[in-house]
Amino acid sequence: MGEVDPAFIQALEHRPKPHSVEAQGIPLIDLSPANSPDPDPGSLSALAAEIGDACEKWGFFQVINHGVPLHVREKIDLVSRKFFALPKEEKKKVSRDEVNPSGYYDTEHTKNVRDWKEVFDFTVGEPMVMPASHEPDDRELKEVINQWPENPSEMREVCEEYGAEMQKLGHKLLELIALSLGLARDRFNGFFKDQTTFIRLNYYAPCPIPDLALGVGRHKDGGALTILAQDDVGGLEVKRKTDGEWILVKPTPDAYIINVGDIIQVWSNDKYESVEHRVKVNSERERFSIPFFLNPAHYTMVEPLEELVNKQNPANYNPYNWGKFFSTRKRSNYKKLDVENIQI
Ligand code: SIN
Ligand code: FE2
Repeated sequence: MGEVDPAFIQALEHRPKPHSVEAQGIPLIDLSPANSPDPDPGSLSALAAEIGDACEKWGFFQVINHGVPLHVREKIDLVSRKFFALPKEEKKKVSRDEVNPSGYYDTEHTKNVRDWKEVFDFTVGEPMVMPASHEPDDRELKEVINQWPENPSEMREVCEEYGAEMQKLGHKLLELIALSLGLARDRFNGFFKDQTTFIRLNYYAPCPIPDLALGVGRHKDGGALTILAQDDVGGLEVKRKTDGEWILVKPTPDAYIINVGDIIQVWSNDKYESVEHRVKVNSERERFSIPFFLNPAHYTMVEPLEELVNKQNPANYNPYNWGKFFSTRKRSNYKKLDVENIQI
């Protein structure tokens, strides 16, 4: 094992298999019908049905013809590569800390095992407001201030441009998900006025012990929706609902990987489940990925939507405050609070 910190070693039952199952099962969906300003209702509802089916069966799907210009993605990919190539001391000048959750860090733990990765987080849109602490009676709020490195000097501009494109795609997807649940197309819009959305640049260095460690340990995403750009290396594995097998999501050029998080699971009262996933690393190639986490306002009380609950299908969850849930996760070093913890 040489010099590797034992904090990275996964328990036997959670170690990755050297050869992943590469099923083509995760749906690849063409979003073209949603791109027109005045979409044809028939093709939009067919598209929504396709998305609904993917959400039910997998909790994951990939999209193409999504409307995000390729050059915007290429620019952030390049800026991320430049940033992570800097010496550690340089990157640490913009370290995330207890006070400021935006910035660089390399000490993320998932389920108490250290992840083999480096990360840079930033918020998008209006300054993000969230609870200052997770003490139950503390009502103090704070604004999250993004930290930008001096180098690469274009990082802020490139990241902001990418963030704006992700917002557009995120809201397009939320509308389609609303339609797929039989709801009004704009049903979710009100939740995202003061959103707590953020973007993460992930860097997975080549790992000398790829069979013992993970880039990110198994987890579910706690927010509403995640839109992930992965490079051509591959490593993301999704737990197949039918048999619990870990399935590698094969990189598709210029596609985005979408998954529903815990909030959509709760809003849909378990129709769409938030599915476990993890990231394998490899000993030869470094890997980069960029998830966009679309999250509602901190004051949102998350609960099953009233239109989806009735006598035959009662609410499976008690309402919970998103901001408290979110800030507790941040402060407890990302020990994941999966929705199981708030189930009735
Ligand atoms: C994550 O799920 O947090 C990261 C996904 C990836 O790097 O592919
Ligand atoms: Fe994730």
